[in-house]
Amino acid sequence: MSRSAHPAGPRHADVLPEGHWTAPPADLNALDAKVWSRTVERDTEGAVSVGGIEVARLAEEFGTPAYFLDEDDFRARCRAWRDAFGTEADVFYAGKAFLSRAIVRWLQEEGLNLDVCSAGELTTALAAGMPAERIAYHGNNKSPEEIERAVEAGVGRIVLDSFQEIVRVAHTAERLGKRQRVQIRVTVGVEAHTHEFIATAHEDQKFGIALAGGQAAEAVRRALKLDGLELIGIHSHIGSQIFDMAGFEVSARRVVQLLAEVRDEHGVELPEIDLGGGLGIAYTSDDDPREPHEIAKALGEIVTRECEAAGLATPRISVEPGRAIVGPTAFTLYRVGTVKPLEGLRTYVSVDGGMSDNIRTALYDAEYTVALVSRRSDAEPMLVRVVGKHCESGDIVVKDAFLPADLAPGDLIAVPATGAYCRSMASNYNHALRPPVVAVKDGEARVIVRRETEEDLLRLDVG
Ligand code: LLP
Repeated sequence: MSRSAHPAGPRHADVLPEGHWTAPPADLNALDAKVWSRTVERDTEGAVSVGGIEVARLAEEFGTPAYFLDEDDFRARCRAWRDAFGTEADVFYAGKAFLSRAIVRWLQEEGLNLDVCSAGELTTALAAGMPAERIAYHGNNKSPEEIERAVEAGVGRIVLDSFQEIVRVAHTAERLGKRQRVQIRVTVGVEAHTHEFIATAHEDQKFGIALAGGQAAEAVRRALKLDGLELIGIHSHIGSQIFDMAGFEVSARRVVQLLAEVRDEHGVELPEIDLGGGLGIAYTSDDDPREPHEIAKALGEIVTRECEAAGLATPRISVEPGRAIVGPTAFTLYRVGTVKPLEGLRTYVSVDGGMSDNIRTALYDAEYTVALVSRRSDAEPMLVRVVGKHCESGDIVVKDAFLPADLAPGDLIAVPATGAYCRSMASNYNHALRPPVVAVKDGEARVIVRRETEEDLLRLDVG
């Protein structure tokens, strides 16, 4: 790759690596409301606050790195989803995006249900008092113990993922003298990610039972015969970070076709369909996510139209957004440790966290943005890569971004839109201590998941 050095050095933003995606933003101090949570603002002095508390104070009290979660924003997003779908549909928050007992309580207060996919998530949900009937249990390989706990607890639905599981759940329910409400997860041959979707040949993955070759129809046949199961519907989840509704359209059409086949063969109209999660959020200013009310309207119209065409009553719809609720509500706050200009390339900014608190950049090539938040700067923009402190060159938090050229060790920088799949996928790599999650609201901050300590590490290491 050819790169030419700017005479004034690499801190000047007009030297971009070949094929670089964008020019520096017009104003480095601006905070785009698309990617920052609702109560984040920069005051006239230049300091950034969330929930009415300045980040410098938060850093002092809670340390860095740390995730700060805007409770008002989280609750508002829950309400937006609940109101958009109304009483005719159910919203299940996907706990895998981020789960804690405080989150479970907020979900209850805001009228949402919860999707869990492991015994650990189920335990957290029940410990925080989520009524079992408002929980959906997922997973492609639920252990016998997990199935037993879910059935015993009385979860509202178990989403069946394989032929073996149909039998396992049925037997467990029968043994416990119960009839378990279940959905069958089908693979509709659609895979959608971000702006694109592919509508053929995506059965080659581990989840669900394929519609193709009549397998899903066979799964329904078996489930309907088993006394331990009450088959309430069909489930489909087509991918993540989706902006385009076309994939959902194909998925809904295929699920409704299956409902029609079931009616024709068994004389039964299954009352529910779940269209999964996967709705996209803005990680950078280039992303344009849809609002919950647009999504609800689009999905409702698609299902109603397809059902009318098939002569079916419209089933009750449910959805499972995770990222779209929690993703935009948090940012990760880091302290800058070193600033290393690489002549003609870019400046490497090392922070006190890294791939242990955000694996998404390394794992999915995810894009993030970053801002200097402890002060205002009118310095020139410089092209940076924000990296962590792990022993690995792929330890990148933000691949390409601009920060002011006077950035210095000790400054606080924040990466927005880290509420989903960051703390929940955090690791102890290099014996890093996983950061806390601090909820901020109306001038008050409280830890909802505490920072790990070295004692925590030693407690697991039995010597
Ligand atoms: N429902 C089911 C059945 C799912 O498998 C998922 C996500 C969701 C709902 C929630 O999807 P969301 O609305 O949050 O996109 N670690 C990846 C995402 C993996 C998603 C797995 N399933 C990431 O960081 O992008």
